[in-house]
Amino acid sequence: MALFPRCLLRGVSSQIRNLNVMPSSPKFMYESARCSSNTSGVRERTLIAVKPDGVHRRLIGQIIQRFEKRGFQLVGLKMLRVSEELLSQHYSSLCKKAFYPSLLHYMTSGPVVAMVWEGHNVVRSSRMLVGDTNPAEAPSGTIRGDFSIHISRNVIHASDSVDGAQKEIALWFQNSELMEWKCCDHDNLYQF
Ligand code: PPS
Repeated sequence: MALFPRCLLRGVSSQIRNLNVMPSSPKFMYESARCSSNTSGVRERTLIAVKPDGVHRRLIGQIIQRFEKRGFQLVGLKMLRVSEELLSQHYSSLCKKAFYPSLLHYMTSGPVVAMVWEGHNVVRSSRMLVGDTNPAEAPSGTIRGDFSIHISRNVIHASDSVDGAQKEIALWFQNSELMEWKCCDHDNLYQF
């Protein structure tokens, strides 16, 4: 709590008043994710998920290392079997696609490791780290370019926009599962 900037605390408490909702309600969680991600861009957050193929292939450590090496900060991490209900919300825009049933089958076929990473421009930078959705188009050096061959098993999910990230984080994580902390190397990464 001591590490929370005062302006952020003021923002959160005024949102509680304005929304007239309890801190544990989904509406509060969504609004507070939006609030904290707007602080000078340094608090931007994204949802990253190692898909079942990545977990089975023991890629979790190497994937985490790439985000850490870049300087991003881990603020949430859990392993879960994702329900069809969560996936149907997460992939709601894809429900008419021919591959949708196989996507659901694949995503429920084993555990997923879901993470929230924080940092300046993290949504865009993560997409660069991850590489194109289709591994055939993903350059070497990216996660998909190094670890995958076909779009149906592309190892990892990364939010595609700041707005999308806020919605996905609120869908996958409770507010209480996200850690507020300031990494000791912060001043070597940012001037603010
Ligand atoms: S689309 O068609 O342009 O809307 O889809 P796209 O943005 O390329 O991909 C959206 C997510 O669908 C996954 N996808 C697939 N999964 C399984 N099989 C096939 N054939 C397939 N094609 C696309 C793709 O990996 C994206 O998932 P996420 O989790 O967002 O990376």
